Amino acid sequence: MKRFDDRVALVTGATGNLGQSICEKFVSEGVSVTAADLRQDKSEAFAASLRAAGGRAIGCSLDVTSTESVCAAVAKTLETFGKIDILINNAGVWMHPDGVQKCLSETPEEFWHEIIEINLCGAFRVTQAVLPAMFEHHYGRIVNLGSIAGEVGLPGFSDYAASKAGVIMLTKTLAMELAPKNITVNCVSPGMISPVPGETQPTEGNWVGRSGERGEIADAVMFFASDTAGYITGVDLPVDGGRILGPRNNHFHC
Ligand SMILES: NC(=O)c1ccc[n+]([C@@H]2O[C@H](COP(=O)([O-])OP(=O)(O)OC[C@H]3O[C@@H](n4cnc5c(N)ncnc54)[C@H](O)[C@@H]3O)[C@@H](O)[C@H]2O)c1
Repeated sequence: MKRFDDRVALVTGATGNLGQSICEKFVSEGVSVTAADLRQDKSEAFAASLRAAGGRAIGCSLDVTSTESVCAAVAKTLETFGKIDILINNAGVWMHPDGVQKCLSETPEEFWHEIIEINLCGAFRVTQAVLPAMFEHHYGRIVNLGSIAGEVGLPGFSDYAASKAGVIMLTKTLAMELAPKNITVNCVSPGMISPVPGETQPTEGNWVGRSGERGEIADAVMFFASDTAGYITGVDLPVDGGRILGPRNNHFHC
């Protein structure tokens, strides 16, 4: 059985590090992709590179904090491809707008709201806009990008960690609501991922001993997004080199 049977995917945050890898893997398996991100020019240039590699793709500007923008991106996808089978809620920010990590006691309220608005409310907004198209075809695969920060916390990023914990619980609740409609909802929660495609960095911060490579996250996303994963829903999968297991013990070697 093919993993993807003539499927159409909408990917948010598509021109970022993980978004690019997810889109590239989708088109390589014959999935039609709307690559949606804040900047129209970057989204279109990236989609052009996907087409140049033989894929079916369009670029689209999308701001997940704006209902109008979200509805326009969904409408453009439907006009172009006729349906939406797969939604990847990947758009996200982790750093404060001033580029400085800070404890909660020093976090300006507007920073808190901005991060929750993009990471959590954005996933709500795009999902709600896509659902009528999924209901129409009685099929859907929704994959959210969480974070291990949403599972175990991250000092200096309480807003980010809270937003990702929200994404994980949104995943589980939606999975229960949408299962009767043949729509699965799962979450991939990355640990530290290298910003450089094809490279990893050594670290003592997890059991595998290196950072992740972006394709390793995209592979997990592809699995949940595939036709073959229809019996899996409500799962939050850490892809983190064992980072959230117990503390790494460097003194004992098997
Ligand atoms: N890379 C990591 O180490 C890591 C770890 C844990 C979780 N994640 C999560 O994975 C996802 C992708 O991360 P990444 O490393 O590719 O980040 P990235 O910064 O490279 O890409 C994020 C993309 O989201 C887009 N974006 C930001 N605000 C937006 C908005 N309002 N509307 C639409 N798009 C918007 C950005 O333009 C950017 O292209 C995020 O949700 C992030 O929180 C990443």
